[in-house]
Amino acid sequence: MSRNATLAVVATGVLLALSLLVGFVWLPMVKPDFAQGGLWDAICRAAGVPSAWSAPSNREDALASRVSMVPALAGDAGGDAGRGGTLAQRCTMCHGARGVSASDVPNLAGQYSEVTYKQLVDYKDGTRRHTLMQALAKGMSDADIRDLAAFYAQLPRPSPAPEAVEAPQLVKVGDPLRNVPPCVSCHGGIDKKPGSPWLEGMPQAYLAAQTQAFAKGERRNDPHGVMRNIARQMSPEEIEASARYYASRAIMIAPQPEAPR
Ligand code: HEC
Ligand code: HEC
Repeated sequence: MSRNATLAVVATGVLLALSLLVGFVWLPMVKPDFAQGGLWDAICRAAGVPSAWSAPSNREDALASRVSMVPALAGDAGGDAGRGGTLAQRCTMCHGARGVSASDVPNLAGQYSEVTYKQLVDYKDGTRRHTLMQALAKGMSDADIRDLAAFYAQLPRPSPAPEAVEAPQLVKVGDPLRNVPPCVSCHGGIDKKPGSPWLEGMPQAYLAAQTQAFAKGERRNDPHGVMRNIARQMSPEEIEASARYYASRAIMIAPQPEAPR
């Protein structure tokens, strides 16, 4: 190669490196929100990678739940359902004698034990906020929580409704363009992912309120922001429609007599 050609190759190389630096590092870095991310974030943003892929969705993830959904916990929090039934007497006035609520309080009957366990631990730690439930959970030992979870897991769920509302698209198939997986891929239907609550027959107002709380980041005890990322993509109409659908899946029944113990 002649001297000139070598020089041209070197010059092109230097130019390329420089433009990569400017395009992927320097330009994204001068954007004001750079301070929140980091070099990797800046490069990903410049390349058009959705930030949800590279960074935690919420900088307040320090508040994350301490319960990690290890498979060993899934489906069995290892509690004593008999003792749980005694402890649950304090819960009946709101959650119903058989774990099915007549008001807008969530049903606990037939809820996966790992879900009840995690939610109570989160209230206890304050990673899920609700004045009343936090106050109640504060006084519970780990054994109390496991026993309550076991008790509620074995109560029968409300009966499936003969005529449910038709499943909205988002629930059935999600929306790949918005990075929203179908609800049924975690909440049952297609698949049940550990830690995902049973939603069918829950009060519509409760479901809508929780989804809104995830969307606004007011509720942020979901691992890796999984629900926040989904809820943020949903329109208010879609939130209502999904809540209406899940609520319609089971028959709401009036408060029942005391559970046998
Ligand atoms: C005075 C009414 C009241 C009483 C008593 C009460 N709860 Fe609750 N509970 C609520 C409300 C309201 C919520 C929804 C709170 C929220 O929005 O985070 C809730 C939420 C929960 C959840 C979360 C459910 C979910 O699907 O995420 C669990 C688990 C729970 N309660 C368990 C209990 C247990 C166990 C007791 C008894 C020791 C109890 N609660 C007593 C009102 C009550
Ligand atoms: C990738 C799995 C996944 C998908 C997909 C998903 N969810 Fe969830 N969802 C979760 C998990 C996990 C939780 C429990 C978070 C926690 O630990 O508090 C949850 C919680 C919820 C709750 C709160 C329930 C309660 O009892 O507190 C609602 C409501 C909800 N999801 C609605 C939806 C809807 C509607 C969709 C579809 C548009 C959806 N989810 C899609 C994983 C998922």
